[in-house]
Amino acid sequence: MTTEQLHDVRLHVNGSVHEVQVPARRLLSDALRHDCGLTGTHVGCEHGVCGACTVLVDGTPMRSCLMLAVSAVDAEITTVEGLTEDDGTAQGRLSPVQQAFSDCHGLQCGFCTPGFLTTITAGLRETPDPTEDEAREMIAGNLCRCTGYQNIVKSVLRASEIVAERERGEA
Ligand code: FES
Ligand code: FES
Repeated sequence: MTTEQLHDVRLHVNGSVHEVQVPARRLLSDALRHDCGLTGTHVGCEHGVCGACTVLVDGTPMRSCLMLAVSAVDAEITTVEGLTEDDGTAQGRLSPVQQAFSDCHGLQCGFCTPGFLTTITAGLRETPDPTEDEAREMIAGNLCRCTGYQNIVKSVLRASEIVAERERGEA
């Protein structure tokens, strides 16, 4: 029996450092879930199709099932657990995208939701005031088996409003 060699890897996730020992082939998605205990990142297809495993790597949405943990050592990773904003309370405040999903009922079973939240968070930085078509384009790479997407599109548009409201100090 061969024993797989383990590598010491330091992952920067949601502002914290996680020192983990992983085989060279450990997927980032598995490292986040199993080694860091951050199970908010969901794994669906495991081959880059569904988008459920999307996390932000230096602010860019990446499919964590297509990335090796060892290749993420120098990056700042944001998972769904890291989206909540610090408001001085223990639980923090929902991010604009999270709040919009709540306001617009943008989820049903919730399996796809972490991937949508991270994808839209990055998408709104690029396109802060999307049209409905742009909102659909923003989420075109993420699959949802429950919602029919209508309320997710509404959530994108609502999130854009919330970002603007918070910037104006209105929310
Ligand atoms: S689990 Fe990564 S894209 Fe589906
Ligand atoms: S809410 Fe169930 S898969 Fe999207």
